[in-house]
Amino acid sequence: MPVTEATIQQETTRRRTFAIISHPDAGKTTLTEALLLLGGAIREAGVVKGKATRRAARSDWMEIEKQRGISVTSTVLQFTYHDFHMNILDTPGHEDFSDDTYRTLTAADSVVMLIDAAKGVEPQTIKLFQVCRMRHIPIYTFINKLDREGRDPLDLLKELEDVLGIQSYPVTWPVGMGGTFQGVYHRLTHEFEQFRGRQEKPAKFRTEGVEDATVAKLIGDVAAEQLSEEVMLLDVAGDEFRRDLVAKGELTPVYFGSAITQFGVETFLRDFAQMAPAPTPRKTVDGRPVDTDAPFAGFIFKIQANMNPAHRDRVAFLRVCSGHFERGMTVTHVRLDRKINLTQSQMFFGQDRNTVEEAYPGDIIGLHDPGLFQIGDTLCESGRFSFEPVPAFSPEHFARVTSADTLKHKQFQKGLQQLSEEGAIQLFRMTNRTGDLIVGVVGRLQFEVFEYRLKSEYGAAPQLSHFPYQYARWLSPIDPRDINYDPASCMVVEDTADRLVMLFADDFSLRWVTEKNPGLRLYPTSYEYDTQ
Ligand code: G4P
Repeated sequence: MPVTEATIQQETTRRRTFAIISHPDAGKTTLTEALLLLGGAIREAGVVKGKATRRAARSDWMEIEKQRGISVTSTVLQFTYHDFHMNILDTPGHEDFSDDTYRTLTAADSVVMLIDAAKGVEPQTIKLFQVCRMRHIPIYTFINKLDREGRDPLDLLKELEDVLGIQSYPVTWPVGMGGTFQGVYHRLTHEFEQFRGRQEKPAKFRTEGVEDATVAKLIGDVAAEQLSEEVMLLDVAGDEFRRDLVAKGELTPVYFGSAITQFGVETFLRDFAQMAPAPTPRKTVDGRPVDTDAPFAGFIFKIQANMNPAHRDRVAFLRVCSGHFERGMTVTHVRLDRKINLTQSQMFFGQDRNTVEEAYPGDIIGLHDPGLFQIGDTLCESGRFSFEPVPAFSPEHFARVTSADTLKHKQFQKGLQQLSEEGAIQLFRMTNRTGDLIVGVVGRLQFEVFEYRLKSEYGAAPQLSHFPYQYARWLSPIDPRDINYDPASCMVVEDTADRLVMLFADDFSLRWVTEKNPGLRLYPTSYEYDTQ
């Protein structure tokens, strides 16, 4: 049934599609569980004790993840909170999989940055933060583990500014930490949320301000005086709370809490739901914004083969950008220039999936993929346009890959093709007579997952010989014979779309080729090549 524009607008307004970024162990799983619990999507947090089993039980499903205790793939989780429909995009925690995270972040409208109060800004947080920064999406910070001894809160804020270069506005401010942790004061609503130990629920008190006698009664005169001084200092010397800067990702509202004790999580969620942006018009390649109440359109940001090894299927994840999605609708697959019928659509919750009948802007749906989709594909109900391409990372590790078992060559070919379409690897072909295949990855661990999956999911027998190259550059159209380069440190290859790519062993060889070939333009990714 078609729905009215008013319904689409109403549904769009209540959606919040976001990702949580953090360094491994900062507490992302714990925070996610706490949020799901508040939304009633699960009944008990930490039901399954121990990381490996808990992960296996929820968002991580691949064998290799279980073995290594890392998260290498992303899933989607939804819950409702009051009238808000929240979509959480789970991102891989390990840095070797940051290109997957990068793609997933293109589907998010905002980000929650989670920081361990004892560790501060860690390497993976920096890397993921930079990706968010490029897109100028709003970032909300939750500083976790206040029930443990951590670093001075002012120091942590300074680090946000010095290391990440983002201004911050602490919306809540902690009193004590670890053994002396008493709670947080909310600088905008003046509530005091009292921490009553790990076992008890926190209590919230209304106050007229930090000088209110209620505060002193709750935390004692000395602590109240210190809190008052600190809050005053923040008011005078700290950044101003400016929603326009939050919207551009230049200022982050900061909250303090403890995910494992559920402390401060509800307050964070309440404010986040109010402040975080609903889906806004997405741009096409020509820079034209597509209104959220326009006819249905969306783009594929992720493809995952064999999510369920029992079914050996492939799922393409689509972010709805505009209009009303209805199962069974006919849409234009722009790249293939053909009409397709979307009958097999699913909504995911971690490992579980259900058929989805309808969806609105901000929602993520999984489409059964018989090999039709590639990352970045646009599907639209009316007209013919493409959304901005999904960016890619430049691969940094390369290996020639051959099939060790000629009988399994077919499985080998299929696996390579599918894993490259999925974005798990980037595939290149040597331009010499052998036409050997080269696999490029951003993080070394991706090689391991690639080999493992080729063997376990496709029954193939891959053999990898590593190359010393460190950089790939897409080349402006040229006859390879006209390029001046040293074959000892460079190689010319083709990608799966027949674009010329050059691999370089080091900075020196890259600079040398740039200097010796003045007319030649080099692009770090196919994305930059396409959007030149
Ligand atoms: P991740 O997904 O970001 O990798 O982190 P995860 O939630 O798995 O949390 C990492 C560790 O930090 C876990 O302990 C978890 O219990 C702990 N943690 C999370 N939030 C808090 C918090 O607010 N306070 C304290 N004190 N600890 C917290 P673990 O011992 O590694 O695992 P587990 O055996 O508890 O599952």
